[in-house]
Amino acid sequence: MRIVITGASSGLGKHLALGYASSGNELVLLARREEKLEEVAVQCRLQGAKLETIVSDVNDFDAMYAIGTQLAQKPIDRIILNAGISVGHSGGVTPFVDFHRLFKTNFLSVHALLEPIIPKLLEQKSGEIVFISSLASLMSMPTSVAYSSSKRALNAYAEGLRYQLHPHGIDVITILPGFIDSEMTQKNRFKMPFLLTTDAGVKRIMHAITKKKPFYPFPLRFYWMIRFVALMPRFLRDRIVALVNFKKL
Ligand SMILES: NC(=O)c1ccc[n+]([C@@H]2O[C@H](COP(=O)([O-])OP(=O)(O)OC[C@H]3O[C@@H](n4cnc5c(N)ncnc54)[C@H](OP(=O)(O)O)[C@@H]3O)[C@@H](O)[C@H]2O)c1
Repeated sequence: MRIVITGASSGLGKHLALGYASSGNELVLLARREEKLEEVAVQCRLQGAKLETIVSDVNDFDAMYAIGTQLAQKPIDRIILNAGISVGHSGGVTPFVDFHRLFKTNFLSVHALLEPIIPKLLEQKSGEIVFISSLASLMSMPTSVAYSSSKRALNAYAEGLRYQLHPHGIDVITILPGFIDSEMTQKNRFKMPFLLTTDAGVKRIMHAITKKKPFYPFPLRFYWMIRFVALMPRFLRDRIVALVNFKKL
């Protein structure tokens, strides 16, 4: 299989790359930090995979379009859109500059890369597009307005794309993880309910991809808690959010 993974220099992307690194697979890994990406590539090669690394910033949309065009020269079996960032949680108003950065990285970059790739998948009549969204997209907290909004936009994009591409043999898979140990979450200074190890999180993501689950939130206990709160009358929901609102450690 030829598998493209963005944000493969650390965290979920790195462990997904290692998870898919086997002799039958050709991996294309993209991120900005060249050294870290090369370390991942070396480990993947040792496991028998063929490797290509691309050092690039997903915020450079022209570069993403060019890379997408280049990647589409050969068949693509799976592309995992994983690169993403979060901004620090503070109680104050989110600066516009953070909003802009989050929407560029977590949302807009995705279509810049996919636009030239989708016609190739349509021509192949096969392929998988995997989006790494977040449970945070389902409920926006006062401290994660920009992050939740960017991931909810991603869900909407993925939903529409699935209706468009599924009839043509292309699977669109949206994964919504809760908290998983990674560089991103190690920065958090609040309690993270149901925090999973990187290995446990990545195993679940790989399971969802194998099963071609169109929408895969996990851990389920956390997902159902969010769904339950969302069904409550608004005044109750307001109280719970005010109470929970991620207590500082
Ligand atoms: N960990 C969690 O609890 C959790 C929960 C839900 C969803 N997610 C999502 O999972 C994805 C992976 O996050 P993670 O937890 O594994 O965090 P991470 O360890 O910080 O990894 C983020 C990856 O994205 C890459 N990246 C970030 N900005 C980029 C840019 N502008 N251009 C290219 N690559 C960029 C980083 O590489 P470089 O810095 O080398 O560019 C890194 O490889 C994100 O989309 C995140 O929102 C994570």
